[in-house]
Amino acid sequence: MSPTAAERHSKRNRAVTEAVNDIRTVMDAGPSLENLEKAKAYLIALAMQKDLFSFEDFPLPEDDAMECSYLIHECEDGTYALYVNSGASHQYYAPHDHGDAWAIIAGVEGRERHQLYLRRNPHEPGDGPLIKKGEVIVAADEAVTMQPNGIHQVNAMDGMPLLHLHLYAKNFILQGERCKYDLDKGEVEPFHLDELGSITDAR
Ligand SMILES: [Fe+2]
Repeated sequence: MSPTAAERHSKRNRAVTEAVNDIRTVMDAGPSLENLEKAKAYLIALAMQKDLFSFEDFPLPEDDAMECSYLIHECEDGTYALYVNSGASHQYYAPHDHGDAWAIIAGVEGRERHQLYLRRNPHEPGDGPLIKKGEVIVAADEAVTMQPNGIHQVNAMDGMPLLHLHLYAKNFILQGERCKYDLDKGEVEPFHLDELGSITDAR
């Protein structure tokens, strides 16, 4: 007999707690590239437990929204916030930061292109507010990391939906005022969580 939704929920909560505890032992020492790489391996190991993360438990939007986000963990102070992102096949977000929160995003289903940027210092040559630093495609059992100053543009690939795990140093509310970037116009625009659509508490 396959497990019930309640059985999956409690099994998932145990696995999430264990993974976040492992990640905290690394990331409490600071968001260096080395620590993010170590923590990434723990999040990938969690994402590989496919029976815990499905569109059945984390449904896609029923309207034309880009995504549904499900909070599955945060510490009492709002740190180590882990979301399941069920993204529609047309999901696209222009370059944006996450305040000063580091991030790790691991794939369960679907492929997501992350174009990575940093803010351009005024004295650096070139035009526009950003400098492109690279590109990572997050597929099942793979992940991308962002340091606190990281900026990414994301889009779903292959005309397929996404189910990914998003871990942030702190939850979206604590990320506060963030910035998004219009590369065509060279403009920076502050924004807040309330433009990101609904988040379900699925803890
Ligand atoms: Fe993001």
